[in-house]
Amino acid sequence: MRRLWNIEEFPFHPEKILHHETIFSIGNGYLSTRASFEEDYAGQTPATLIHGVYNHVPGALVPELVNAPNWLPITIRIDGTLFHLNAKTTDYLYPPRGALLGYRRTLHIDEGLLRREVLFRAKTGSVVRLVFERFASLSDQHVLAQRVQLFAVDGNPEIVIESSLDGTVTNAGNQHWGDFQVTAKGSIISIGAKTQQSGYRLGMASKLIAPGKHKAKVKGLQPTVMTAFTLKQQETITVDKFTTVFTSRDTHEPLTAAQKKADQAAKKGYDALLSAHRNEWAKYWRDSDIQIMGDDNAQLSLRFAMYHILIAAPRHDQQVSIGAKTLSGLGYKGHVFWDTELFILPPLTLTQPHLARNLLMYRYNKLLGARHKAQANGYEGAMFPWESTDTGEETTPQWSDVQPDGSRIRIWTGDSEQHISTDIAFAVLQYWRWTGDDEFLRSYGAEIFLDTAVFWGSRVEAKNGRYEISQQIGPDEYHENIDNSVFTNRMVVWHLQRALEMVDWLKAHAPNDHQRLVTALKLTPERLNHWRDIIAKMYIPFDHEKQIHIQFPGFFDMEYIPVPLYEPRTASVQAILGHKRSIQTQVIKQADVVMLMALLGDELGASREVILNNWNTYYPRTDHGSSLSPSMHTWVAARLGLSETAYELFQHAAEIDLKDNKGNVRDGIHGAACGGLIQAVLFGMCGLHIDADGKLKTAPHLPEHWQQVSFHVYYRGRRRAFRVKNPVKVSPSA
Ligand code: BGC
Repeated sequence: MRRLWNIEEFPFHPEKILHHETIFSIGNGYLSTRASFEEDYAGQTPATLIHGVYNHVPGALVPELVNAPNWLPITIRIDGTLFHLNAKTTDYLYPPRGALLGYRRTLHIDEGLLRREVLFRAKTGSVVRLVFERFASLSDQHVLAQRVQLFAVDGNPEIVIESSLDGTVTNAGNQHWGDFQVTAKGSIISIGAKTQQSGYRLGMASKLIAPGKHKAKVKGLQPTVMTAFTLKQQETITVDKFTTVFTSRDTHEPLTAAQKKADQAAKKGYDALLSAHRNEWAKYWRDSDIQIMGDDNAQLSLRFAMYHILIAAPRHDQQVSIGAKTLSGLGYKGHVFWDTELFILPPLTLTQPHLARNLLMYRYNKLLGARHKAQANGYEGAMFPWESTDTGEETTPQWSDVQPDGSRIRIWTGDSEQHISTDIAFAVLQYWRWTGDDEFLRSYGAEIFLDTAVFWGSRVEAKNGRYEISQQIGPDEYHENIDNSVFTNRMVVWHLQRALEMVDWLKAHAPNDHQRLVTALKLTPERLNHWRDIIAKMYIPFDHEKQIHIQFPGFFDMEYIPVPLYEPRTASVQAILGHKRSIQTQVIKQADVVMLMALLGDELGASREVILNNWNTYYPRTDHGSSLSPSMHTWVAARLGLSETAYELFQHAAEIDLKDNKGNVRDGIHGAACGGLIQAVLFGMCGLHIDADGKLKTAPHLPEHWQQVSFHVYYRGRRRAFRVKNPVKVSPSA
């Protein structure tokens, strides 16, 4: 039977190496490591990314999350033949460079364990089965463990093992580290280093437990420990490698801490570490697993999506957040976007609220950066950066990388994609509504919510007898610097409405915090009246004749391109039409008005007719040029009862990382697609929502062949079990 917890590669697919490196990543909320091999393989891109460790190299436009030394290398020689995957699979008998006789790699997503089994023949004829395992401990986030088991199927081979740390890795050529201290003593090797501009110090140490006499040496930035032994026919020998990582974000002496910990981890041993790690994973899955009966692929893809969110979510740190590509690749340089609050965070708010809280605390702790941005642009309050890193300052590059024609494209998102401030506020309110965590709201959340409201109060423009917001980029990034994005304007109205309610709530329930915030944020009666005026007079572009929201005035004056006619396609319509032309057309990059409908639901106050008209207008114009798009469309299509379309879109969303249908998974997991997929199922297909009386309700529109979806959510501190059946039968139980 197919195990619905395993992602498998069988046989070896060298052409998919970079895709697989990403999707088979392991991690523990402190760091993630791409699934590069223990042995060298041309073209692989090893990366271990640690939350919060950013650095800005001279000449680069922006800081980036720094690739840590590679802890994976284990080189194995069998009777003098180097074990590697380049071996021809057809030279079965007397292979000059060895023969790869079998290969299977499995990511066990239930226990965060990557396993690889390989059958290899040395040139002497000896055949060895090698089983590699690795995990990033969830019970002790500084510990990384590897095991290699060698079994002599045929022959009595001589085995030579070299285990190293590799300080030569870079971020695609950018070397962020300096001040290296490389040591090798006994069976412990270590690397100390410091990021050159930001000054973060790192300590990484590794201890090898294997038979034979160990010899340690340092070769440049690669400390190595070596051992040799004979493997008798039908005998298994186990080699364990324990690596530990600390940075100066954790301790003053990261190198000493790592060395000490490596010793301790080795003493504990692989089995004990693995069992503690498994127990920890079981706790997370107990709350976060969503079970689908009737669709194995959907089941697996949902677990895969949740796995990648769980390995990226910081457990013990409120100064870091999840980047758009999680920690699984160098794409977007590890920067944090709205992807986190509106896509990745909600599944955590519902199933792991303490992790959602950590992510919101990151924004609280970076309010200073948001205030700087507001001030620098002549506004009040907090204006969050479109791309954020460790400082909380705006870190969106102003220019793209060099294009094939040698030019660079101006990137406007850092200037104009201002809806991020409301997106963050939205996540704060959603967290509060679901968890009832009043303490968080009083002490932190309200300050985020209200200071971003203050920003909008100063940002809107009184014009033409109403309020307008010019020079925006809505979710649809193909149309830049437009005036009156309906998404932005309408979300701002929502934001200010809820802000006024929040002020009242604070006054009634937390008078001290109310007073503190009124003083600190200058929430004067005039300011609140100004908010009321904006709510009443904000311009919401709407076509009364057609009964649709207008994405922005002028949108329908542009060239109409029937996007469905371009199917089947692998490229985006933007790529097909070219940047210059596509921005002058009605082609939309991603859910925009549709996103507004997903987020606000009934709070949008639109009739079913308007929702359907909007859908019929915008869906056929959408390119899905962003991975954020299909899941939001699934959600809305499901709610509209368009079950077949919803399922098609669900599959599109589910395959983004697993099938690499955008061709860019090498850069990292699409974190927002993962979070969006889960929301599409919970909020869209199951119709999970809090009704007007504060009760949890479902309104299912499951795909026809799904028999049942079961899941747990936390609602106001209580764990609630749901079993949503098809046809429409619901049984919520306590
Ligand atoms: C999308 C944005 C998203 C960013 C990072 C862009 O292509 O249009 O909405 O925030 O990618 O994932």
